[in-house]
Amino acid sequence: AYFLVLMVFVHLYLGNVLALLLFVHYSNGDESSDPGPQHRAQGPGPAPTLGPLARLEGIKVGHERKVQLVADRDHFIRTLSLKPLLFEIPGFLSDEECRLIIHLAQMKGLQRSQILPTEEYEEAMGTMQVSQLDLFRLLDQNHDGRLQLREVLAQTRLGNGRWMTPENIQEMYSAIKADPDGDGVLSLQEFSKMDLRDFHKYMKGHKAASSELVRNSHHTWLYQGEGAHHVMRAIRQRVLRLTRLSPEIVELSEPLQVVRYGEGGHYHAHVDSGPVYPETICSHTKLIANESVPFETSCRYMTVLFYLNNVTGGGETVFPVADNRTYDEMSLIQDDVDLRDTRRHCDKGNLRVKPRQGTAVFWYNYLPDGQGWVGDVDDYSLHGGCLVTSGTKWIANNWINVDPSRARQALFQQEMARLAQEGGTDSQPEWALDRAYRDARVEL
Ligand SMILES: *[C@@H]1O[C@H](CO)[C@@H](O)[C@H](O)[C@H]1NC(C)=O
Ligand SMILES: *[C@@H]1O[C@H](CO)[C@@H](O)[C@H](O)[C@H]1NC(C)=O
Ligand SMILES: *[C@@H]1O[C@H](CO)[C@@H](O)[C@H](O)[C@H]1NC(C)=O
Repeated sequence: AYFLVLMVFVHLYLGNVLALLLFVHYSNGDESSDPGPQHRAQGPGPAPTLGPLARLEGIKVGHERKVQLVADRDHFIRTLSLKPLLFEIPGFLSDEECRLIIHLAQMKGLQRSQILPTEEYEEAMGTMQVSQLDLFRLLDQNHDGRLQLREVLAQTRLGNGRWMTPENIQEMYSAIKADPDGDGVLSLQEFSKMDLRDFHKYMKGHKAASSELVRNSHHTWLYQGEGAHHVMRAIRQRVLRLTRLSPEIVELSEPLQVVRYGEGGHYHAHVDSGPVYPETICSHTKLIANESVPFETSCRYMTVLFYLNNVTGGGETVFPVADNRTYDEMSLIQDDVDLRDTRRHCDKGNLRVKPRQGTAVFWYNYLPDGQGWVGDVDDYSLHGGCLVTSGTKWIANNWINVDPSRARQALFQQEMARLAQEGGTDSQPEWALDRAYRDARVEL
């Protein structure tokens, strides 16, 4: 059972305020919500220290290097950008492998990637303990005493999974009569007069179409561990050679996510990993952190994305700020043009990768910490899936999970090795189903 807890770290993190205001708190039946930041106790026993994490060098944009990933051919890795550190490898998967992955995903069945979690949101908003004046101060990033559209747009959490555009914010303002002078800017006075319950009522009453969501696709997960289809195993081994990370890290990462974008599908720009705060726990290592954790996130050191088909129209992967000289969230989100919007503004992004069957692109979501481990999330890794204008787009993601806490990652690996020895890890029903496909032979 989980419930939402609201916390205000006003002094600590002014950055993405509402992301911190609303987060999912996992608890084991302990219903007390402790609003103070929690300090993590170190795990028991001395954990083995892990060696430095491998990180490929970019050299410069356009740089190519030859690598041997499979026995019968060479591959070429080309640097696409340095910020983020991003590469492309044509022919990483064969056409047969692409077709097989799509086939296995279809056999397993895909589910909608995003639905609106309205009730939890209502519940959370109902218990939000922050005064309207404080909320205004938090939203008003440039401290000019007025709320510009971009300042509201920057708080994606406000939309509760619904993608907000300047137009629909203005629509909402006029529906709840928040902005009488209609200039799209809320003064403190206008904001104070606004009843936040009207806002929530409006959000609840407006049923979003799938094209209005942050993400409009279907996906499923394919197991790649022991006993999986030999092609799934082979791909994991290839990724291991490509990334030069330890087998433990790669083998203990998430299964392969296969995604289908139909015509009209998209995924607005986002980063694959959550921010790292002292209170953050990684989804993959939470097993060994058995205390109550205020903020859980996916810790995805790398993303390896495979294009499984040629797309008839659109569907590029956009990196809006790749290799930009500087990064500034507020110039990314203007009052009129939001560069994160992949339905409308992909053409204005700095870098776009056109889907090509068999090609892999991969990048690092974190900066190095200078000590061979994971540092801060790389803001430049912002990316999205552009609108598919014609046909269907199939991709797959291999995320490589690393805990920013080196000690916790070490403990996690130790614990998983122990469980594997005891033979107690193969009780996942979801994976058991995947194993049934291990000998799937399909005419493709
Ligand atoms: C989990 O909690 C128990 C009891 O509080 C403790 O003995 C154990 O060491 C904890 N395990 C980890 C990995 O923190
Ligand atoms: C996909 O497009 C590329 C050219 O962009 C072409 O070389 C390749 O043969 C195409 N693959 C398929 C399966 O159509
Ligand atoms: C990109 O770089 C330019 C030049 O430094 C800067 O003016 C602009 O704000 C940057 N864009 C973003 C989105 O940060």
